[in-house]
Amino acid sequence: MKFLEVLAGEAIWPPPLWLMRQAGRYLPEYRTVRAKAGDFISLCLTPALAEEVTLQPIRKFGFDAAILFSDILILPMALGQDLSFAEGEGPRLPPLETASLLNPDRAAGVYAPVIETVSRLRRSLPKETALIGFAGGPATVACYMLDGQGGGFPRTRRLAYENPRFVRDVLAILTDATVEYLSAQVNAGADCVMLFESWAGMFPPAQFRDLVIGPNRLISDELKRRHPGIKIIGFPRLAGLMLNEYTQKAGVDAVGLDNVTDIATARAVCPPGMVLQGNLDPLLLKLGGKPLEDAVSALLGEMHGYPHIFNLGHGITPDVPEAHVARLVELVRRG
Ligand code: CP3
Repeated sequence: MKFLEVLAGEAIWPPPLWLMRQAGRYLPEYRTVRAKAGDFISLCLTPALAEEVTLQPIRKFGFDAAILFSDILILPMALGQDLSFAEGEGPRLPPLETASLLNPDRAAGVYAPVIETVSRLRRSLPKETALIGFAGGPATVACYMLDGQGGGFPRTRRLAYENPRFVRDVLAILTDATVEYLSAQVNAGADCVMLFESWAGMFPPAQFRDLVIGPNRLISDELKRRHPGIKIIGFPRLAGLMLNEYTQKAGVDAVGLDNVTDIATARAVCPPGMVLQGNLDPLLLKLGGKPLEDAVSALLGEMHGYPHIFNLGHGITPDVPEAHVARLVELVRRG
C-alpha cells in the first residue's frame, strides 16, 4: 500500500492522499446515514453504520487511506463520563471533578462496537486502502473532560497551574486507557494509528512537555512494544516551535501539520526521516478555483522527493462542495 510505504519513510510520487473528516456532513450520503442513526453517538456505536460512513468517501474519491469513523470523546464516555452532542453546538460533558469517577475496567465493554467497526472495515475495504485507527491525545481529551465543552478550555488552563496533580492523575488514566483502546484497534486490523492532539498548541512549553509530549511518548512506546513495526502519526496542532521537540521526543513516525506551519520549515526542524502529513488550509477546499489550484501545486512542489502524505491542516468543513474535493483529488493524482 502506497500510504504505508510512505509512512515507512519512502518518498512516493505523487503522494498518497486522505483528508481529515473525510466522512462527514459535506457528503449527502453521510447526512442520510446520520439521520437514520438518530444521533452522532449512536452512529459511532453502530458498527454497520459507522462502517458505511467510513467507506463512503473511499468509494466516491478513492482516497489512499480510510479513517475509522468514531470520535475522540468516545473514550471518556467509555471511562464513565456522560457525553452528548448538542445539535450544531458540539460536545457537552459534565466537567470532571475527581479522577475517581473514571472506571477503566468498564471502558472496553463500552467501546467494543468501535472495535467491531474496525474488524468489519478490515474485511470490506479495498486491499489498496490503508485503515487508520485513532484516539485523541490525552491532553486534548482531558481539555474536553475538564471543561465539558470546547471554547478555550479556561478551567483546564487554570487547573494545569493550580492543581497539576489532578490534571496528571486524569492524564495517567487516559494514557493507559488510550494504549488499550489503540492496541485493540490494531488487533482488530488498523494498519496504523493517529493521535489527535488538536489543542496541544494551547499549552506553554513546560506544560507542553509534561502534558503533551510525555503522555504521547508513553503511548507510542507501549504500542510499539506490543505491536512491533506499527506506525504512529502525531497531530500536535498549533505546536509552533515545539514541533521540534515533539517530533524528537514523542516517539511518532509521522507528524500531521496544521495550516499555519510552513512545511519547508517543518521539514528543517523535524528529525531526518520524519514523515510529514498535511497541511493545506481547509478554507481553500471551500473556495476552490485558482487559490486551491495554486496552493496544491505549491505544496506538491515543496514536498516532491520527501515522504509526504497529502492532507488538510484540519478537518473538512460541512460547507465544502464535493466538486472541490474531486478537483483536489485530480490535482494530487496528476502530481
Ligand atoms: O473522518 C474522520 O476524520 C474520522 C472521524 C472523526 C470525527 N471526529 C468525526 C466527527 C475524527 C478523527 C474526529 C476527531 C475529533 N473529534 C477531534 C480531533 C480532530 C479535530 O477536529 O481537531 C476533536 C477535537 C473531536 C471532538 C468533536 N467531535 C467536536 C469538537 C465535534 C463538533 C464539531 C462539529 O464538526 O460538529 C465533534 C463531532 C464530530 N466528530 C462530527 C464528525 C463527523 C460531526 C457530527 C455530526 O455528524 O453532527
